[in-house]
Amino acid sequence: MAQAKVRKKKVATKMAYSVSTLTDYSAEALERTSAELLSALKHEAAAVKSDADRKVFRDRWMARKNGILTQINDLWLKKAPKESKREAGRMVNEVKRAVEDIIEKADRVESATPVVSGIVDITLPGVQRSIGAEHPVIRTTNEIVSVFQKLGYSVAEGPVVETDYYNFEALNFPPNHPARDTQDTLFIAGQQSRAARERLLLRTHTSPVQIRTMETMRPPLRIVIPGTVHRNDPPDASHSPMFHQVEGLAVDTNITFGDLKGTLDHAMKALFGSSVKTHFRPSFFPFTEPSAEMFVSCFICGGSGKRGSDPCRPCKQTGWIEILGCGMVDPNVFEFVKDNGYDPKKVSGFAFGMGSDRIALLKYGVDDIQLFFQGDVRFLQQWG
Ligand code: PHE
Repeated sequence: MAQAKVRKKKVATKMAYSVSTLTDYSAEALERTSAELLSALKHEAAAVKSDADRKVFRDRWMARKNGILTQINDLWLKKAPKESKREAGRMVNEVKRAVEDIIEKADRVESATPVVSGIVDITLPGVQRSIGAEHPVIRTTNEIVSVFQKLGYSVAEGPVVETDYYNFEALNFPPNHPARDTQDTLFIAGQQSRAARERLLLRTHTSPVQIRTMETMRPPLRIVIPGTVHRNDPPDASHSPMFHQVEGLAVDTNITFGDLKGTLDHAMKALFGSSVKTHFRPSFFPFTEPSAEMFVSCFICGGSGKRGSDPCRPCKQTGWIEILGCGMVDPNVFEFVKDNGYDPKKVSGFAFGMGSDRIALLKYGVDDIQLFFQGDVRFLQQWG
């Protein structure tokens, strides 16, 4: 009795399916051979219980070197006599598809319901996915934008790849202005055959969106424009070839420089605290007249230029920090969009533009702009 049991077991092991050479290529023989194989396949698939089983199963059938599919290719198809090649090929393909189907199903089960052998400890922590944090520059940009939204400004955006027309010409830059020089502007290559105003470049400021918006929206207009800009500057602690700006534009009848000062003074108090003062110095931009640079009293040293007995570095001991460029929209700019209701005799406006990276550096006391763009998680996590 005991002996019989042992023998039975041996027989069962021997019965594992193996591919044998085909001699009979008649339709019935092919049918029978493929049915045998498919029945073995189903049996083996049903016996797969664990990840390890699944791997063995997959290898046994699919391994490139000596897997069953490879074997039937070699023994049944390649060795078939010429006149039987077609039929044999059809049968082998059918079998292959069935095998791949079943194995794919087994794999899908694996990814949907992990096979657990034994007991699952449901008190173990799951896989933790860390939630990202808002990037400090984006956060600062959003804060600036929301200050103006509360004043009734809408958000406008425009393309980063711009034409010379929007970036320079319609902003009243004369044809040979040095800003067009490759020293400052990054041009898209291979544009020589295009008309000068159509040449593509990476916008050097967000001001082209002033024109684009005035082309599509009639006055009165109040918009803020956040976005990335590029300049051909070598990277260092305070320069990056890519940086961020927030632009503003207000156009209506009777807008004055007083409106500009009042609006920006309010915005700076909202951003840096109600005790900061603003200060304007004459400047020049081709698209504003008059133009100014606006400073805020240093919110690090309170305007004294000193921190204890040390010099205040962010304001270079002056007590003032330059924040933005601004001015009254030059009538020459309105001329480019006159047909959409911007007659310089009827409307006036002010515009401003600030670097949000620079403001983020100051706000968070970061001393190197490169840190914002290197993607070091240890740095960025501090805003998490
Ligand atoms: N576009 C200017 C710059 O990038 C800033 C600016 C915007 C100045 C709007 C005046 C008005 O320097």
